[in-house]
Amino acid sequence: MEKTIVKTKSLSKHYHVHAHTVIALDGVDFEVKEREFVSIIGKSGCGKSTLLHMIGGLDFPTSGTIIVDGMDLSKMKEEQLAIFRRRKAGFIFQQYNLIPDLNIYDNITFPLELDGAAVDKELIQELVKELHIADKLEMFPSMLSGGEQQRAAIARALAIKPAIILADEPTGNLDTSASHEVIGLLKVMAEKYQQTLIVITHDLDIAQMADRIVRLQDGKIEKGK
Ligand SMILES: Nc1ncnc2c1ncn2[C@@H]1O[C@H](COP(=O)(O)OP(=O)(O)OP(=O)(O)O)[C@@H](O)[C@H]1O
Ligand SMILES: [Mg+2]
Repeated sequence: MEKTIVKTKSLSKHYHVHAHTVIALDGVDFEVKEREFVSIIGKSGCGKSTLLHMIGGLDFPTSGTIIVDGMDLSKMKEEQLAIFRRRKAGFIFQQYNLIPDLNIYDNITFPLELDGAAVDKELIQELVKELHIADKLEMFPSMLSGGEQQRAAIARALAIKPAIILADEPTGNLDTSASHEVIGLLKVMAEKYQQTLIVITHDLDIAQMADRIVRLQDGKIEKGK
């Protein structure tokens, strides 16, 4: 675990709402090593999702820089960012965001189709087997439990072979045992495919499954953690 894959410098994000400014991120210097598993914790509104969105190229900073896998996202145009997101970043959200009209297999391969990329059928089979949803591929999302839907969302995120997996409260809708299973699998898969994993969580037990915990407060990283 030597090479740095994520590095933000003086990263700030301000939102202008009517007459006032919300400082969501306030000069964040954040570094993640390749293949590291980092959890981000902190109170609601402290800037966790905003930071994850910046690292994933979902939003532009107000100031500062974000380097991910050697690319300076802060200098990229929307079109380049879209390509970065499709090829490098696997997103997992609290709402699984599966497409209701597509079966599970088609949901998993959808981002690849979107990118015009080849579907690595062997990898997909391996992913769904390891995530214990191999028998659900013909089903539609509404027929699956929350934990199964989230495991399908993980398969979808991993199918693009991302360098980095970004998960925003991935277990927010699951009970404790399903939560631990989902994060346990995510961790095993990230290790297996040598991916970097960043997980936002409110659950301290889950946070402690990471190599390192980073705590945000009022848009800043708390020191000494
Ligand atoms: N699009 C937006 N417009 C205006 N303000 C925003 C926007 N997105 C986020 N904010 C504000 O930025 C701050 C940080 O929000 P963020 O979503 O990053 O918090 P969070 O730590 O993820 O919280 P939670 O744990 O509740 O998800 C909050 O004060 C929020 O209201
Ligand atoms: Mg959030």
